[in-house]
Amino acid sequence: MQTFLVTGGVGFIGSNFILKARKEKWANIINLDKLTYASNPDTLAQLQDDPGYHFVRGDIGDIELLRNLLEQHQPDAIINFAAESHVDRSILSPQDFIQTNVVGTFQLLEASKAYWEKLSLQKREQFRFLHVSTDEVYGSLSPTDPAFREDTPYAPNSPYAASKAGSDHLVRAYYHTYGLPTLTTNCSNNYGPRQFPEKLIPLIILNALNGKPLPIYGDGQNVRDWLYVEDHCDAIYLVLQQSRLGETYNIGGNNEQTNLTVVEKICAILDELAPKSNFRYSSLITYVKDRPGHDRRYAIDCSKISRDLNWQPKENFDSGLLKTIQWYLENSTWIEQVQSGTYQTWIEQNYKDRKLARSH
Ligand code: NAD
Ligand code: TYD
Repeated sequence: MQTFLVTGGVGFIGSNFILKARKEKWANIINLDKLTYASNPDTLAQLQDDPGYHFVRGDIGDIELLRNLLEQHQPDAIINFAAESHVDRSILSPQDFIQTNVVGTFQLLEASKAYWEKLSLQKREQFRFLHVSTDEVYGSLSPTDPAFREDTPYAPNSPYAASKAGSDHLVRAYYHTYGLPTLTTNCSNNYGPRQFPEKLIPLIILNALNGKPLPIYGDGQNVRDWLYVEDHCDAIYLVLQQSRLGETYNIGGNNEQTNLTVVEKICAILDELAPKSNFRYSSLITYVKDRPGHDRRYAIDCSKISRDLNWQPKENFDSGLLKTIQWYLENSTWIEQVQSGTYQTWIEQNYKDRKLARSH
């Protein structure tokens, strides 16, 4: 069986990828994660007795650690999920985004190149470096613009998007300059189990269950394309297995929704699954001050991955949201673990100046 070095594998998408990789026997996994605020080590507790899974706490920017890990485990592929990933945090404090997303990815590329250059010819040909990126690098669309394609010019608007764009460019450069066998995927908004509750969908679910306001930035008409996380994991594995070297692929759910619609759908499902006798969840909807530079619309044209690799999203939004909400209802211990002191401090910082604009 192959071995993958996964970075950021205790986070939302990485942990779902690792669980799937072990379940489907895709590969043995070395998971390198710094365990920032966005991770909960218990997320992968079910793998603690799995001999094909090995966790290492560390930073993708630590080149010595990377050299040792690569030498010791001789991975067949590296999948880079590690990142600072929340736009609002990047607005309030961009430093960590540059450090991990740009400098960290650079160090990971350097270590990978040095490792790859010393491999046997056969292993060199099989080795892959897959960089997991976002649709946010393409900027913002008007309601009538065509969806983002792989050749849409980069136009990042937030410090998060700019740092991911920088890392994408470095990955591209290592392919063109040094021949490092890289692949890049640019995906739309993911949702599903194990997402840290600072992001829209889990934040709304947990606020609703606690009877707290459901904050909608601006007019609630910003549009995102939503993809169930397991569909994203399948797409990454397919690209890893079948793509030509140096390619980039857009991945999306063909599922554009306004934020208000997403929140209303969550409320409707909760009214069914966890009804409150004295109110409906939608009565908690609260419009708050907008995010600065808030991108109006993202949409993904995923015809390239569909055509080249025969990939399509399997989950539809209603069934995916239902599964996601059920997971949060059934995993209260996980929720308590991530809602620690640092989480509370963030919520206080992010929402204190967003005065109530108007109720629903
Ligand atoms: P996340 O914030 O849930 O997890 C990130 C993980 O990376 C955490 O476990 C964290 O501890 C780890 N990490 C952070 N800095 C690190 C460092 N310097 N060294 C090692 N580990 C570090 O993020 P996510 O939502 O799982 O996103 C994973 C990747 O997918 C990111 O690169 C993100 O840009 C990209 N992406 C996310 C989405 C989405 O909707 N969540 C969509 C498209 C692309
Ligand atoms: P988010 O989950 O932060 O993802 P991204 O900014 O990467 O797309 O936000 C999704 C959308 O939801 C985005 O348009 C911002 C909006 N949003 C709210 O309206 N209220 C909130 O409390 C949050 C966290 C996000």
